[in-house]
Amino acid sequence: MDSQERRPWGIGVAGLGTVGAGLIDFLGGDPAFAPAGGLFHVSGVSARSRSRPRPVDISSIPWFDDPVALAQAKETDIFVELIGGSDGPAKAAVEAALRAGKPVVTANKALIAEHGAELAALAEEMRVPLKFEAAVMGGVPAVKIVREGLVGETINTIAGILNGTCNYILTEMETSGRSFADVLGDAQRLGYAEADPTMDVGGFDAGHKITILAALAFNCTPDFKAAEVEGIEQIELLDIRMAKDLGYRIKLIASAERAGDGARVRVRPSLVPLDHPLAQAGGALNALFIEGDRIGRFFIQGPGAGAGPTAAAVAADLADVMTGGSRPTFQAPVQDLPPLQRVDPRQMTGRAYMRFLVRDEPGVIAAVSETLAEAGVSIESFLQKPSEGAAGVPIVLTTHAAPEATLAEAVERIAGLSAVLDRPRMLRIVRI
Ligand SMILES: NC(=O)c1ccc[n+]([C@@H]2O[C@H](COP(=O)([O-])OP(=O)(O)OC[C@H]3O[C@@H](n4cnc5c(N)ncnc54)[C@H](OP(=O)(O)O)[C@@H]3O)[C@@H](O)[C@H]2O)c1
Repeated sequence: MDSQERRPWGIGVAGLGTVGAGLIDFLGGDPAFAPAGGLFHVSGVSARSRSRPRPVDISSIPWFDDPVALAQAKETDIFVELIGGSDGPAKAAVEAALRAGKPVVTANKALIAEHGAELAALAEEMRVPLKFEAAVMGGVPAVKIVREGLVGETINTIAGILNGTCNYILTEMETSGRSFADVLGDAQRLGYAEADPTMDVGGFDAGHKITILAALAFNCTPDFKAAEVEGIEQIELLDIRMAKDLGYRIKLIASAERAGDGARVRVRPSLVPLDHPLAQAGGALNALFIEGDRIGRFFIQGPGAGAGPTAAAVAADLADVMTGGSRPTFQAPVQDLPPLQRVDPRQMTGRAYMRFLVRDEPGVIAAVSETLAEAGVSIESFLQKPSEGAAGVPIVLTTHAAPEATLAEAVERIAGLSAVLDRPRMLRIVRI
């Protein structure tokens, strides 16, 4: 619809959960939000249950049982998808809206990370925008910064804390001295973590977000299958304490690094130096560090989730649509974008933190050091703690940079020593 006609834009909102209800509240009552001269209204809503009580009044808004029907309704000028999930009703409704020639705004990172290329092709064929600011870092305009603000920049590294639930759990473990399972249980009771926390604690949510940022940063299409994902389920209090004694904090870091002709995208619990800005972002905060050829380094942080911040990001996309902003979905028309070129991880080098539980007997430390030296790994620092009642003594060390394959091989060799009592633990140390 041409805004010159001055007919109010009809906004169809599918999904009335945390974000959907937040958006209805925002659109209904924020006088500061005035794109298109305020000429818009919520023309229809859809959710799974019509009878479920909502924190906002939707009694005067037309109800649609089926989000596909809402997407296709003639009153819907812009379709907002806030259902979630990479497939199912969210994907069906977004496709229906695009096929009907309607602009789409979504907060759905799983959908964009897994199907972004095909949806962008459909949007470009139909010449309508497909926008997803709220999908990454909630209220922090990370997509706009990378997609638009840095379009002329060669980004080399983009790395951040992109999942507030994991950041909250790791922060609580450190400050309260409680285990992963205890803190997760509390977070679920308080509503900070989902009943099924796999998407968050397994690293998949952060993986979806870094997949989207990598596509924008490296001018390619998103490909979630190219991301290496590891979560925080295996992080023990002992590692958090040992890392701190060595001058680091453990964070779930999602990163995309340019390497040669390709890039590496991964999510892994990693050690961050205590004085690095990423180490200072505690609780449910999200944070992002970007390094490029011309800009050097910069850092942003803010609320990565929640009704208000996420609704504000959805509203920013709505404002772009209503005021006529038209850019391709990613950095260029999707037909001109290659898929992400994955580099062979064995070519990458890095520094590592290693923890071993060993028998408390003479010669063990020498055996560990010799095994590392034979593998070609040099030790940077070393720490031994008294046994805390458990069998064996924990020793931890950090290494200088070495090929990742060499580090993995060294750990395997040490695991085979008779004095080593448990599966060794290895975490990477960030290089940013
Ligand atoms: N929560 C956040 O802070 C946040 C931040 C950034 C991005 N996001 C993204 O925003 C999206 C929505 O998240 P959310 O937290 O608001 O989710 P949510 O609270 O679980 O809400 C999901 C909504 O979708 C509705 N729904 C489910 N199946 C449906 C179907 N078949 N047809 C129509 N509606 C259906 C649900 O209906 P009922 O209410 O009737 O069950 C509910 O209203 C997700 O993609 C999420 O990843 C969320």
